[in-house]
Order: sequence, then C-alpha cells, then structure tokens
Amino acid sequence: MKHLIAPSVLACDFARLPEEIALLNDSAADWIHLDVMDGRFVPNLTFGMPLVEAINRLTDKTLDVHLMMLEPERYVEAFQKAGADWISVHYEACPHLHRNLQQIKATGAKAGVAINPHTPVEALFPVLEEIDLVIIMSVNPGFGGQKFIYHSIDKIKKLKEEIIIRNLPTLIEVDGGVGMQNAQVLLQAGADVLVAGSAVFKAPDPKKAIQQLKNIGGLAL
Ligand code: DX5
Ligand code: ZN
Repeated sequence: MKHLIAPSVLACDFARLPEEIALLNDSAADWIHLDVMDGRFVPNLTFGMPLVEAINRLTDKTLDVHLMMLEPERYVEAFQKAGADWISVHYEACPHLHRNLQQIKATGAKAGVAINPHTPVEALFPVLEEIDLVIIMSVNPGFGGQKFIYHSIDKIKKLKEEIIIRNLPTLIEVDGGVGMQNAQVLLQAGADVLVAGSAVFKAPDPKKAIQQLKNIGGLAL
C-alpha cells in the first residue's frame, strides 16, 4: 500500500478555515487529521464536535480524529456523528482500552490508539488484534511545531514487526515533528500514515509540501 498523508489542521489559519480545507481538497492529502485537546489530558485546548462537523461539510476526505482527552468514551458517539471516520483515543487515558475500542467500532468508525513517547509499544500487544490504527506520538501531545523524538523510530520498527508476524491489517501513523527531513526514514521503519501540521501549513506552498511527502519512495498514485 502506498503511504497516506494526513495534514493536521491544528497548524492552519482558522480564520480562513474554508479556504484551508479547500486547499486540502485540491491536494494529494489522503486524510485530514483533527486534534481534539481537552486542557486536562494535555495542557492545551482546541476544538470539539462542532468544528469536526463543519469540516465534514467542507470535505469528502477521510476525517482522522485524534482525541487527546480524558474519558473519551463520553464523546465517541458524538464525534462519529460529527463525521469522524477514524477515532483514536490515548492509551494513557483509557484504563478500559479494550472496551473503548469495541465502543468506537460499534459506531461504525475505525478504532485507533495513540501512545505517548514514554509508553512502550509492547503495551498494545495484548489488544493489537482490536486496533485498526496505532498512532506513535513522536512529540509530547499538546502542541504543533515541536521537535521530533528520535526514539519513535525504534517503536515503529518493533510494532511493524509484530503486525507482520501476526499478519494484521493494523496501520501505523506517526504524529509530531514529521516533515521532509524524516519522512523517508519513518516510511522505511514501517509507517503507513504521516501526520504533518507545520510541515504543510507553514510551508510556502502547502499543496506542494503535501505532494512531496506523498511522492517519497516513488511516484504518487
Ligand atoms: C500534537 C498533535 C499533532 C500536531 C502535529 O499534539 O497531535 O497532530 O498537529 O503538528 P506538527 O506536525 O507541527 O508537529
Ligand atoms: Zn494529532
């Protein structure tokens, strides 16, 4: 499978939201990554269902919703109704992760789990069969524009190996500090989906930046 690019709107100009989404619609972006932050699990606050719902009306692209929040089970159904195609919760916020994954899948959405930089990837192995997407956080969640944490590459490799051994369809997404400087290495390590916030929206030509990320490892499909 050709890798997927998921620009994160966290880095876009919210005063020009329709134009920014139109730009993504007209680009090689596969998914749109939406960072929901609650001010408790992470220090920052962003947006909730109303904005996801608005973006859903502006695009046909797949919506990849990353819930950086405590008790995400309270909002899973609402985010799916708002248009989320993929819903990811944080391992560190879910004492009943297996149940949370079932809940997400029962809504019809695909179920993802994000892990913080300090969480070993092996923590997910007991429930790997239940997970459609693993988000390896390569920065501490909460803010865009941070520096990539290099150890994340080892975690991608370990997880990829396990996914191959078990012959699972689970996708690996990398989130945080991703750009042209490390994309190739991440794909070689086994990443399937690259999230890019600043690398896309702070680039002089965001559409070109997306196309460049998509072109890595061959021609864009
Ligand atoms: C960080 C978010 C990321 C963020 C990535 O907490 O989960 O999705 O938007 O931004 P960049 O690509 O700028 O590191
Ligand atoms: Zn994210």
